[in-house]
Amino acid sequence: MLWPETATRTADGQLTLGGVPLPRLAEEFGTPLYVYDEVTLRNRARRIRDAFTRTYADSGIVYAAKALPSPAIIALLREESMGLDVVSGGELYAGLAAGMPPESICFHGNNKSEDELREALTARIGHIVIDNLDEARMLSRLAVELNTVVNVMLRLNPGVEVHTHHKIATGVADSKFGVPIWSGQAASAVEMILSAPGLSLVGYHAHIGSQIFDDAPYREAIVIVLDFAAEVRTRFGFFPTVFSPGGGFGIAYEPGQDEPPIETWADEATATLRAECARHELPLPRLIVEPGRTIVGPAGVALYRVGSIKDVAGIRTYVAVDGGMADNIRPTLYGARYTAAIANRTGAGPDVPVTIAGKYCESGDLLIEDARLQMVEPGDLIALAAAGAYCLAMASNYNLARRPAAVLVNAGNARLIRRRETYLDLMATEIAPNLAPDDQFGSLAPSAKS
Ligand SMILES: Cc1ncc(COP(=O)(O)O)c(C=O)c1O
Repeated sequence: MLWPETATRTADGQLTLGGVPLPRLAEEFGTPLYVYDEVTLRNRARRIRDAFTRTYADSGIVYAAKALPSPAIIALLREESMGLDVVSGGELYAGLAAGMPPESICFHGNNKSEDELREALTARIGHIVIDNLDEARMLSRLAVELNTVVNVMLRLNPGVEVHTHHKIATGVADSKFGVPIWSGQAASAVEMILSAPGLSLVGYHAHIGSQIFDDAPYREAIVIVLDFAAEVRTRFGFFPTVFSPGGGFGIAYEPGQDEPPIETWADEATATLRAECARHELPLPRLIVEPGRTIVGPAGVALYRVGSIKDVAGIRTYVAVDGGMADNIRPTLYGARYTAAIANRTGAGPDVPVTIAGKYCESGDLLIEDARLQMVEPGDLIALAAAGAYCLAMASNYNLARRPAAVLVNAGNARLIRRRETYLDLMATEIAPNLAPDDQFGSLAPSAKS
């Protein structure tokens, strides 16, 4: 599924989401704009929850906030019985502010700060996923200081190859995440954690990467982790009551890319988990799954307005839009591909090769290189499909861009869930002798529009 479930066109060709024409949203909220379809969000959340609970009753789904740490969306996913996976004090703050119960929150990260760990302990979150021994020592010290005992999981590096971009593969041998199993370091880490005051080890974690289409590496990781669990039980008597293979399920970004059904993935993973537990005579653990991209990615569309069109004779046609790498770094960061459509009218004529460029001062600021689109004019609107995950979440203020607004659409209504930044927002953290923001452009007030 490339476009949100409710995507249709009006009789005069306007692309609509959740019953709201995108040109109307552009008019009301300005562009660039991120539009989220509530029906798609809820349906995807329910589908993944049902896929796991029907085959493995003791499963829990926690939404990986890094994909889009929006309090409004976290609150919506809470209504769909999801917990939350956070990787920073900021995400923890957003989750708590959104009303996520602390016990449903888990905390990840390869270099959590002392302050962040303190915040997690003070909030009494469900569990912390320890990534390395330095963290285990610090967390133990803090837990003792705060006179508490915290549930922890150990993030393992199983050393499996996955077919995804190397920048989003995390379970390979050469990774900054997790403690390697094969080198013996993971067993030493378990021994240390078991004897550390303030820490209560509950299980293992092994997220192997993101945008993965093949379930084989997950099965491989489960086998490796359960072998390890059996070895640890023999040596130290500990066995996991919780296990998490993380998230990472791939989604379609271009036509012809087939998203693997989540039900197949759930069936395969849980069958492997059951078989491996039986083989090693280990009790079945609680299963925690941490999807991010697969929930919010296909539910979100990025909406841009075309500014200039430049034909470099014999080479390519650049269609420049009013956003780019400051709101979506993925194409520049790791060559991510997207699919575009004209949003304000049905295009006329054949598809032509164009490159959709951003407006920022980097030659590499290209949203889609060699896209095929019917010819557009300045003022047209272009929508990018599957832009819900890791776009707005990674947005920056490069060139002092104001990060875009986001709206949630449903049944003909649009709700602003994030306003566009203002120039005043951009100056809010700056300290300079004569800095005196005034409203010379009339754009300091926090309106939603540009
Ligand atoms: C530990 C962990 N869990 C879950 C996720 C979510 O991955 P995805 O958005 O691909 O489902 C990530 C992403 O990097 C992660 O690092």
